[in-house]
Amino acid sequence: MSNYNIKHLEEYFKVYRKSVREPEVFWEEIAEEHFLWRKKWDNVLSWDFKKPEIKWYAGAKLNITENCIDRHLRTRGEKTAILFEPNNPNEKAEHITYNQLSKKVNQFANVLKDQGIKKGDRVCIYLPMIPELVISLLACARIGAIHSVVFAGFSSTALSTRINDSDCKIVITSDGSYRGRKTINLKEIVDEGLEVCKGVHTVLVVKRINSEIKMLKGRDKWLQPLLNNASDECEPEIMDSEDALFILYTSGSTGKPKGMVHTIAGYMVYTAYTFKNMFQYKEEDVYWCTADIGWITGHSYIVYGPLANGATTVMFEGIPSFPDYGRFWKIIEKHKINQFYTAPTAIRAFAKQNLKFVENYNLSSLKVIGSVGEPINEEAWHWYNDNIGKKKSPIIDTWWQTETGGIMISPIPYVTPTIPTYATLPFIGIQPALMDDEGNELIGNQVEGKLCVKFPWPSIARTIWGNHRRYKETYFSTFRNKYFTGDGALRDATGYYRITGRVDDVIIVSGHNLGTAPIEDAINEHPAVAESAIVGIPHDIKGNALYGYVILKEIGESRNHENLRKEINQIITEHIGPIAKLEKVQFLSGLPKTRSGKIMRRILRKIANNDVNNLGDTSTLLNPEIVKEIIQGVM
Ligand code: WTA
Repeated sequence: MSNYNIKHLEEYFKVYRKSVREPEVFWEEIAEEHFLWRKKWDNVLSWDFKKPEIKWYAGAKLNITENCIDRHLRTRGEKTAILFEPNNPNEKAEHITYNQLSKKVNQFANVLKDQGIKKGDRVCIYLPMIPELVISLLACARIGAIHSVVFAGFSSTALSTRINDSDCKIVITSDGSYRGRKTINLKEIVDEGLEVCKGVHTVLVVKRINSEIKMLKGRDKWLQPLLNNASDECEPEIMDSEDALFILYTSGSTGKPKGMVHTIAGYMVYTAYTFKNMFQYKEEDVYWCTADIGWITGHSYIVYGPLANGATTVMFEGIPSFPDYGRFWKIIEKHKINQFYTAPTAIRAFAKQNLKFVENYNLSSLKVIGSVGEPINEEAWHWYNDNIGKKKSPIIDTWWQTETGGIMISPIPYVTPTIPTYATLPFIGIQPALMDDEGNELIGNQVEGKLCVKFPWPSIARTIWGNHRRYKETYFSTFRNKYFTGDGALRDATGYYRITGRVDDVIIVSGHNLGTAPIEDAINEHPAVAESAIVGIPHDIKGNALYGYVILKEIGESRNHENLRKEINQIITEHIGPIAKLEKVQFLSGLPKTRSGKIMRRILRKIANNDVNNLGDTSTLLNPEIVKEIIQGVM
């Protein structure tokens, strides 16, 4: 019998040891006993971090939708699979049972087939948080198409870059979306983006806000009439374990986003197993993760992990502040949510509001509360613990990444004792390593270094779409034979991990990873700008905000700086999206550079953070005089 559900600390240690000593035996048992396979694997694991090449369950055949839907129909057909809570609190919540989900996914899959989509084709999904989003992911998986979800807050340029990078043939979108009191015309954004996407032959449009939109003849089709005519039966495509399930883009240190590729079997096994344990999910529970499905958290812990366990998973269309800051708590009361999973940035925003927004609601159904996306600061942790968990529901501070597919380091609730700001212990099968700058592994406790993982786990991303070299360079070249996460961490005296934050040029703003390079590229497009550099500064709700240093082409440019600031933020909004706007912009005559011409970001970071007495050695700069100018500008 495999240990599918860990219930106490000794069991955790025992199973952890087994998963490290005999990883293949361990992951074979989990896969064998808890999933539906059309054919078993020839080999549990083969790997080489030098190449890099990682394969789990090679030779196995399956379809993930049979695991997430079909196999539940006999025992849970009438159980709610998706519980949809609309933006407008007066609109009725929708309960989609597993039986209904099965039919809807099959219909959608048949529509995709009718539109010429085949196994291996890429499908771009640009939808708000409505049921069609989950259904479209599963419809792709049903026929073996690879989905690439683009967060619907991204701009048309960001969308088209992603569509072209993975050569999507079709885009699924909606007329628009609701966000609190606002509506957003998504279709217009798609139209703009598609002007430079020659490969897209079809756009399927979901009607959500009933707005007047332009439909391009031959290309754009309303989804509903097609669904009405489609059969609700669709044989699943039988896939190889290592076939791609989806591509999901994440920011990197250099300009282009990285299309992380996740493959079917390992991703399914790991997200399902972590979901079961991290949330201690029981059959009658109602689980809610507030992430958007445009991010990995939504893929793994709204869609695949919960559905593989036959869970009821809530999806919420709206925002935390509409109609007021009580909305989340109202939803928890209304649907008697048992597990709640959100982001530190949301928690910090709530903590700033009047407590009556929480106190008005009954939160006694909660059993587990989670946090993800960035380090949770101590104050936010306590606010969450006191007011939402009421000191009885454990907080799970879950550390992981788009690249890791599933939760890597986290307390298991009711199993691992928690400490504020600590992600605590590695999950079963995860072998972290802390490294010093010389590339040595730091052994023992009370050490701090760069966080790596030294052994593969089933849901590690297998490549970057179309750029395996970049995959190797980014993740497997900094440290020999190890996966490098880009994060720093410490291990305390008891072996607990605390994540200290990014050690590369990625800045996490409100839980969104933003690479500095793409933002700088966007700013540099402004005709008056010669050069720019972005650093992060602390922000009490967003965690970090962006501080931009901008060099104008003409020194002493006579134009109004206030207008320039607005224009720069406008360009950023167009290229990336409003999430990447700068909090502060400082104009100056030059950037501090090394003799080889590299920007000394360390200095810029310190000055923006008012840490000017501690700049270190600036004598090696090509232009040391610039430091004074920057400091004066900040003061
Ligand atoms: C950060 C989100 C501290 C980290 C699932 C990581 C965290 C990046 C935590 C990945 C946490 C995520 N504590 N930092 N609990 N969770 N991070 O790809 O820097 O959007 O590398 O995946 O978020 O962000 P991504």
